[in-house]
Amino acid sequence: MNGLVTLILVILITVKRYIAVYSDCTVVVNGEKTIKVQGGQTIISALSGSKIFLPSACGGKGTCGFCKIEVLEGREEATSIEEAVIPYKSIIAGTRLGCQTKVRSDISIRVPEEYLSVKEYRGKVTEVEVLTHDIKRFNIDLIEPKTITFKSGQYVVVEPVPGETRAYSIASIRRWENRISLEVKKVPNGLCSTYLHALHAGEELIFFGPYGEFYLRTNQSKVVCVAGGVGLAPMKSIIDEVLTEQKGRKVELYYGARTIDDMYDYERYIRLTKDYEDFKFYPALSDVEEIITHPSGFIFDSGFISSELSKRLVEGEDMEGYLCGPPIMIDTSIAVLRRKGIPSDRIYYDKF
Ligand SMILES: Cc1cc2nc3c(=O)[nH]c(=O)nc-3n(C[C@H](O)[C@H](O)[C@H](O)COP(=O)(O)OP(=O)(O)OC[C@H]3O[C@@H](n4cnc5c(N)ncnc54)[C@H](O)[C@@H]3O)c2cc1C
Ligand code: FES
Repeated sequence: MNGLVTLILVILITVKRYIAVYSDCTVVVNGEKTIKVQGGQTIISALSGSKIFLPSACGGKGTCGFCKIEVLEGREEATSIEEAVIPYKSIIAGTRLGCQTKVRSDISIRVPEEYLSVKEYRGKVTEVEVLTHDIKRFNIDLIEPKTITFKSGQYVVVEPVPGETRAYSIASIRRWENRISLEVKKVPNGLCSTYLHALHAGEELIFFGPYGEFYLRTNQSKVVCVAGGVGLAPMKSIIDEVLTEQKGRKVELYYGARTIDDMYDYERYIRLTKDYEDFKFYPALSDVEEIITHPSGFIFDSGFISSELSKRLVEGEDMEGYLCGPPIMIDTSIAVLRRKGIPSDRIYYDKF
């Protein structure tokens, strides 16, 4: 008899689970938008069906942490993947990863308000520029929607194959509303960078955005930009905005790479130092022992960019830090900025 009861219970639980997975569920977003979705999907894919695009830089593997949301009602236990990425206190408060949490019943969630205005864009590559032996710039005219509004420093997300997503900083000036540029370093065997490096002028690209907390704030503090390699990408827009829209504000670019062959656009920044006295440029080459003098007389120091910061920044000056590049460069540079007196909440960065 006991065996029969157990069997019936197992069947009921299985049926309930089956129905919960496959029946329609309701997702209330930010208390204002209610959408019907098919149960069993992850929140990230359920929302994308209603054109709400959560950011993702790891293709839903649960490692980037970009897709965090708050589950207000209908919360389930966090998965071990979520526990590895989200602090315990936030898990208790309801933070989850949109790529790991599934919609199995009616739920209510909160997402950052700006995600509600993120759009899917279709663009046409108009030009591919070879910047170094492994970095290319893609200039893209927007087809639909025809214009994009973003904050200097933000990124877009590309999906080379369904379910795989990667982030790329917007490497063009904010004022050019009808086109964007991406600067992409080819990673050996990298899925998305290989896909992008194979694109030619005339081909189309779909992307989502804009996203990110790494963007220029408006105030009068000196802007200290620190870029490593292709981390130079978002600096163009940040520097342009300071020089053209926040006149009188000082901005310095510290740009590090291994050798001069790994650098690009330095001629442009050398020229800018001549055109704008509020702009200073300090390039440094980590794998070169001697100081290099450019034909213009401009000096490229040898050493790491963190040493350059250490040498040049004046402790206690009113400054903000904007850093983009490899994790080790960001960590060592943040340590210097902190020593020079910049509070951690005025240091913004994207590590990749
Ligand atoms: C906010 C943000 C902005 C970004 N902006 C840019 C940008 O403007 N330009 C740009 O080129 N990239 C940028 N990236 C990195 C980009 O999103 C991808 O991670 C990168 O292009 C590699 O993706 P992939 O699919 O080619 O490689 P994957 O298929 O993801 O990786 C393949 C292999 O390469 C390794 N790998 C991944 N990245 C690197 C690396 N940099 N160096 C060496 N090995 C690596 C991986 O561990 C893996 O073993 C950004 C990332 C973030 C989070
Ligand atoms: S953690 Fe990267 S998409 Fe969710």
